[in-house]
Amino acid sequence: MNPTIQTLLSHRSVRRYTDDPVPEEHIRSAVEAGQMASTSAAVQAYCLIRVRDPEHRRRLVELTGGQEKVARAGAFFVVCGDVRRHRVIAQRAGKPYRARLEAFLVAAIDAALFAQNMCVALESMGLGICYIGGLRNRLRDVDELLRLPGGVYPLFGLCVGVPDERPAPRPRLPVDAVLFEGGYPPDEVWLDALSSYDEEYEAYLRARGAAPKPWTRGIAESFTEPARGDLAAYYESKGADLT
Ligand SMILES: Cc1cc2nc3c(=O)[nH]c(=O)nc-3n(C[C@H](O)[C@H](O)[C@H](O)COP(=O)(O)O)c2cc1C
Repeated sequence: MNPTIQTLLSHRSVRRYTDDPVPEEHIRSAVEAGQMASTSAAVQAYCLIRVRDPEHRRRLVELTGGQEKVARAGAFFVVCGDVRRHRVIAQRAGKPYRARLEAFLVAAIDAALFAQNMCVALESMGLGICYIGGLRNRLRDVDELLRLPGGVYPLFGLCVGVPDERPAPRPRLPVDAVLFEGGYPPDEVWLDALSSYDEEYEAYLRARGAAPKPWTRGIAESFTEPARGDLAAYYESKGADLT
């Protein structure tokens, strides 16, 4: 197994960090590594906002649903889709800027690829990371706190720090439930693979001291109510066309 695959397979979200700072040079090289992720037609439709102000970090704990790690991590970032650059450049060149859902998707995909490359780089340097989707709980408040201009779409937060825990890896679906040949198989094919996964997942939760629950039960319970129902209105208010 090569060191890249070893780093990838060693991933676990880290939610407890020591007080040690994250070296600046590690952050800069991780950002560079992130930037080398593939990007749709080189549009590089993302930016990364580092939040240092302790008061802002406290406020973000509140806005992310009480996630203390947002204040405690050595560094905290907001990952944004960014089409502002494209809009401003088009305007400066006297060209119309016309974008539909495709432009929003490109920004979200580019930003996620950038962030994941960056995270792998950080992990390869011994740092721990945890994405913070809770950032989307109260996006309008996040927007106001960070004074974000139009065309900048906050997508998720990112905690980075020196790990103060080494949790067991969270088991993933069997490869045969994910990798299909030539098309989508009958549902029984992947359903069959899930019973052993449910057992493995439940054992993982039990070992972590969490309430044991098969993965499929967790999933069945996860979508009974739509989450974060005002996202479309918020992103449209920032200039996205989601049609
Ligand atoms: C986009 C995204 C948002 C996430 N948001 C949160 C979050 O708000 N809080 C948290 O503790 N973990 C968050 N996570 C971490 C996931 O819970 C975690 O990746 C998943 O359970 C798999 O566990 P692992 O990363 O340890 O392998 C998020 C992960 C992703 C990819």
